[in-house]
Amino acid sequence: MSFERRTYLSLLLLLLLIVLPLATSACGPGNGGGEPGEEPGGEPEPEPEPEQSWVRPNVGTLDPAGAELTTIRAGVEAMKARPASDPTSWLYQANMHGTYDTPALDAWNSCQHGSFFFLSWHRMYLYYFERILRDASGDPDLALPFWDYTDPAQRAIPAAFRDPAAPANPLFVAQRAPGINQGAQVPASATTFTTAMTFTNFSSATGSGLSFGGQRVPAPVHFGGVFGQIESQPHNIIHVVVGGQSGWMSDPNMAARDPIFYFHHANIDRLWNVWLARGDGRANPSEQNWRTQTFTFFDETGTAIQMTGEEVVDSAQQLHYTYAEGSGDQPQPEAIGTTESLPSAPFTDDRQEILVEKKVSARLAGKGADVAFSIPVAETEAIGDEDGRTTLVLEGIRFGRPGIYYEVYAGLPAGQTATPESPYYVGNVAIFGQLEDGSDAHAGHEAGAKSLSGGATLSYDITDLVARLRGREGFSGDMALHFEPRGLEMPEDQPGLEAIPAAREVRIETVKIVRE
Ligand code: C2O
Repeated sequence: MSFERRTYLSLLLLLLLIVLPLATSACGPGNGGGEPGEEPGGEPEPEPEPEQSWVRPNVGTLDPAGAELTTIRAGVEAMKARPASDPTSWLYQANMHGTYDTPALDAWNSCQHGSFFFLSWHRMYLYYFERILRDASGDPDLALPFWDYTDPAQRAIPAAFRDPAAPANPLFVAQRAPGINQGAQVPASATTFTTAMTFTNFSSATGSGLSFGGQRVPAPVHFGGVFGQIESQPHNIIHVVVGGQSGWMSDPNMAARDPIFYFHHANIDRLWNVWLARGDGRANPSEQNWRTQTFTFFDETGTAIQMTGEEVVDSAQQLHYTYAEGSGDQPQPEAIGTTESLPSAPFTDDRQEILVEKKVSARLAGKGADVAFSIPVAETEAIGDEDGRTTLVLEGIRFGRPGIYYEVYAGLPAGQTATPESPYYVGNVAIFGQLEDGSDAHAGHEAGAKSLSGGATLSYDITDLVARLRGREGFSGDMALHFEPRGLEMPEDQPGLEAIPAAREVRIETVKIVRE
């Protein structure tokens, strides 16, 4: 090193020694570098101390008796021991999602469903829940694991949640679908996210579920009636099959009392990151109200915190957590779902043409059901040849809690088995957010957007399917719908468990084909 260079460096060091103490005292204690609210401008900042960051693990890689799950059990137990009036207690946190308890305390019943706030609200909720759990566990390294049910080896709920099947296990609850605590598996078609990933648009027009993240709404909606793609599948379906007809997970006012809720939502939150990482135009919403709408949470000291969407768009940078590897990180063709030519361009929202609208008043009662439906052949001419996309929209869905879901098929030839590997498979029907009778879990709370009280809406991209059908010789426009019930796959050593329980009726009022 030359003499000049050494002198220069020592001068720089001297300068730093003088300036640094001044700078830190000006900042004051407790004002960590890089946090929002820092003074802009001035000298370039010295590198901030790297903050701790956490990797949320894949629960399938954890030993049920190992250190990670042991501290999680300790944290859950400590939270459960706190009184319901304490914002850091298990019950208070669960009631923030939804509850029947009255009077409602601050921020209870605030979960966001059926709109583009779904992903952001649940990310914030999990973030503060995890901080509270970490603090309660006494383990500063605790990170909330995710349940990767799309991994064929993980279709039963993790062993730690059902073994031992006793109240002494803080992760066990009896209020789950029959079979779940015996190791029943959720069906493969309940676990795929292939279709959601193909959508490159985060949000869609009010009333449209044709986006990864959901419909745009002007203000928060506790239970909106129009579900975006990732919320419908796998989110809603997993709630429905894990909770069954009378367990907690299928009831939005009880779901967050079941510890599996948080592991399920860590996976949904992870899939948001997986989606972004796929690029190709996938981006977080730029809508001002999505970015700046505030929601209330509580930190580990019980202090109320306001949080906004723009503070949670990047989990690694802003919230200091990432995810261990799971399904979807290595894109690979899944057995189920169309992987080829689904949406490459975003839905533009600027054109919505109803090609067919039919009141079907379908009643589904746990058996395969067929609903006559057709599309004028002339209308199918352009499908697949132009940019627009063709969608099947089911409206006025009163789902209640049947404990099962229905696979939807269109144009399935007579005598062919309804299997999700078939080219006639459209998607699934399940709703999370309604009570037994199909009514809204919290009617009348919200203004501005269509709520569940008119029944729910689900939408499916069928561009490829219609293009395929019309290419068949003698295609007359027949698109008869078939609904196939799917329940849990029961363990073989447990005879007597019903995969499809005596079903509560599911109703679907209207079927539409819409070109966008
Ligand atoms: Cu707010 Cu999975 O629910």
